[in-house]
Amino acid sequence: MSAQRTLCIVKPDAVEKKKQGAIIQRLLDEGFSILGMRQVRLSRPQAEAFYAVHKERPFFDELCTFMTRGPVVAAALERDNAVQHYRDVIGATDPAKAKEGTIRKLYGTDVGENAVHGSDSQENGLIEISFFFAGCDLA
Ligand code: CMP
Repeated sequence: MSAQRTLCIVKPDAVEKKKQGAIIQRLLDEGFSILGMRQVRLSRPQAEAFYAVHKERPFFDELCTFMTRGPVVAAALERDNAVQHYRDVIGATDPAKAKEGTIRKLYGTDVGENAVHGSDSQENGLIEISFFFAGCDLA
């Protein structure tokens, strides 16, 4: 399979626990290349725009409040089979249901504060990368 791109966001809970370094190292150890990486604090309108697909969900307000609580680290990743491999490495959305050794099992707290965001498809991964990075930022 050829190289694919996907987006990692280390969420505020994991940054507060100072686990961003461990998470990025794990992704490097899994064979991902980091094309771009930045720490940002999302504004409320930015969080609402990023998660617009979830705006009718009951947890939308809670999700946006959480994602604006503190800085996040966004990383554009590249690897063969990147979308599926990243999803396997981070584990299930709910850390309680995630497999042992996955990032969400290791560092997540609950379904809301689950340490990292993962793109659900290659198409959405590219859209989500473009939310944080201009093409000229990716090397
Ligand atoms: P993420 O991969 O960032 O994509 C959408 C996020 O919504 C998801 O991770 C969870 O953090 C969050 N989410 C999903 N379901 C719930 C829920 N039932 N309660 C709170 N947050 C949720």
